[in-house]
Amino acid sequence: MSTIDQVEKKKERKLVLTWAVTFLIVFPLLIILGLFMRLNQGRVVELDYTQFYAFMTMHGLGMAGVLFSIAFAGLWYLISTRITKLNLGVGYFVYVLVLLGFLGLAYGTMIGNFAAGWYMLYPLPFKGASWAVSSTQISSVSLIVMGVAWLVGILHLLYALAKRYGGFFNLLGWQYLRKGEHEKLPALVLVATIALVPGIFAFLVGAVMLIMFLLQSFEPTLSFDPLLLKNMTFFFGHMLVNITLYCGVGWVYGLLPEFTKREWKVDKVVVYSWNATFFFIIFAYLHHLYMDFAQPTSVQYLGQIFSYGSAIPATAVTMFGVIAQVYHSKMKWTIFPLTVLFGMMGWAIGGFAAIVDTTIAFNTGLHNTLWVPAHFHTYMLMGIVLFIFGFLFYLFSGEEGIHQENKLGKVGFWLFVVGAYGFLTMFYLSGINGVPRRFADYQGIEAGQVKEIGAQLARYAAMFIYVVLLGLLVMYWSLFTKLLKRKEASA
Ligand code: HEM
Repeated sequence: MSTIDQVEKKKERKLVLTWAVTFLIVFPLLIILGLFMRLNQGRVVELDYTQFYAFMTMHGLGMAGVLFSIAFAGLWYLISTRITKLNLGVGYFVYVLVLLGFLGLAYGTMIGNFAAGWYMLYPLPFKGASWAVSSTQISSVSLIVMGVAWLVGILHLLYALAKRYGGFFNLLGWQYLRKGEHEKLPALVLVATIALVPGIFAFLVGAVMLIMFLLQSFEPTLSFDPLLLKNMTFFFGHMLVNITLYCGVGWVYGLLPEFTKREWKVDKVVVYSWNATFFFIIFAYLHHLYMDFAQPTSVQYLGQIFSYGSAIPATAVTMFGVIAQVYHSKMKWTIFPLTVLFGMMGWAIGGFAAIVDTTIAFNTGLHNTLWVPAHFHTYMLMGIVLFIFGFLFYLFSGEEGIHQENKLGKVGFWLFVVGAYGFLTMFYLSGINGVPRRFADYQGIEAGQVKEIGAQLARYAAMFIYVVLLGLLVMYWSLFTKLLKRKEASA
């Protein structure tokens, strides 16, 4: 049993609310950058190239960063209030460092015009860049600061859990594979571990890669192997996005049983599935390098096998788990289970579109088209972001309030879902029609049809983004009224 007292829980609540409010401020601002990108692609506004790519860099890195931060903060909160005590000082240290890193990145991109994209394709940022070297340096240092903060937070959390469950391997559920009695492991802890350990590798590799960038920015005669740096960048980026999703899935394992009143047990199948994902996820990033012909061919095939391997077991066992939780449970479809169900759906649709893209035969046609942003925007926006809003409703309404009907919240939710799927459909349709990704506008495309279709679909997408923003506004209204009501009641 945990021995966390009420005072401690209140303090942890304050910390997670600080993260939550920061997320709620930053998230729509980053969407607005996305809106401007689509308006530019649709020729409604005119951004110069550097500005467009600076927006895209901030949008991509900012979204990945802010989503991982709130996903991690949510895990921290659930573990610190239900499983084992965590050091609040470390929690605030991570928050302040991430915030400083984020502000540095915003300065480097939005003022310094650092516009290399999240992928930074080495050595391009050092070849005739349209921004000052200092912007590359500020942005790299800011990203390193955020990475260090997350590393500290993850190490602290895993250390506390390992202490609580008698060793690291017990967190992976390996005791279930041996005979004999053992303490039950909450599914939340298993999934949190599988999400966070690969995160350690990702942040270390990311930090080394950024330090190499920094070194070259100070000493231009230096040069590194571009293929090695590309492998490092995609190892870091792919992993960050994947583990963000798994952190959110961890909440689902932890919180859905409160609504269905059914225990979500860890058993051998769950342990094997998540451990398989734990292994495969390390190599799944290789599918980003299918077009890099310098990469050995055998590694390309491994990339395909590991991509299937990382996606299928965890997804299948979680989907079946959710069905087993919900089926005939007489649960009320309040806002939390609704976000979980739709979040799962977004994960499945985006995951399926990703599997299509990682299949080499399709990848030759879809690679570098808008199909790629389509699939990862699906599981981020309609997967993890929905889990996040479910969690925020849970947090702001309180453990009692969340079971009550929330009509306003649901209106906001439906507007958000309709707007987001509309926006995503335009990405998919563009991908099928061969519209390239990462193009500031489509005017230079010689195939007239692609040029016109790309711009037209971008304009439709922009209209759906307005619906997304409206949905957010309504959800914010509902969230903050719930929070204020709770405050008044407790006062
Ligand atoms: C309604 C919300 C969003 C809008 C309107 C939006 C819009 C966009 C647009 C227009 C692009 C440029 C695509 C291209 O032409 O290649 C883009 C790229 C990107 N977005 Fe979003 N986005 C949204 C949500 C998200 C979320 C939730 C994430 C989470 C990680 C995200 C991460 C990224 C990344 C990493 C890129 C760069 C992609 C690349 O390197 O090709 N976006 N987004």
